[in-house]
Amino acid sequence: MQGNQKVIDYMNFLLANELSARDQYFIHSRMYSEWGLTKLFDRIGHEMEDETLHAEGFIRRILMLGGTPNMVSAPVKVGKNVTEMLQFDLDTEIEVRDNLKKGIKLCEEEQDYVTRQLLVEQLKDTEEDHAHWLEQQLRLIKMLGEQNYLQSQMIGSSDPTHGH
Ligand SMILES: [Fe+2]
Ligand SMILES: [Fe+2]
Repeated sequence: MQGNQKVIDYMNFLLANELSARDQYFIHSRMYSEWGLTKLFDRIGHEMEDETLHAEGFIRRILMLGGTPNMVSAPVKVGKNVTEMLQFDLDTEIEVRDNLKKGIKLCEEEQDYVTRQLLVEQLKDTEEDHAHWLEQQLRLIKMLGEQNYLQSQMIGSSDPTHGH
């Protein structure tokens, strides 16, 4: 089925957003692992998988509409410490949220309601899961201080010393 070119082009822009969010979580999760912050590694490694699934949703939909997925990611913002990393991730999620909303409007104008549905599902993940969790962590850092917060992030389920 040949899809609307404007919608396909915009989905390629959103795909770039998802690929860069994935890469940002990729590098941040591995930095957490290197620093022994296993709980943060677990969570952010999981976010990387979520963004991969979001990217896959766009790739499959673009292909179905007869377009060519553009596998080029937008620039990645790598933080130098935990607070900065969480803040950069939140900035990325907010940017993604705003772009998804614009895409939903475009889908309505072009009457592509199935693509619209895909964007609404990703908007829900972005707002209620990713951005919300990041906001909670930044609030905890303010409440507890960064050192206490970091201490709470050392033991995760993938830590070999962690009992199940
Ligand atoms: Fe996403
Ligand atoms: Fe996300």
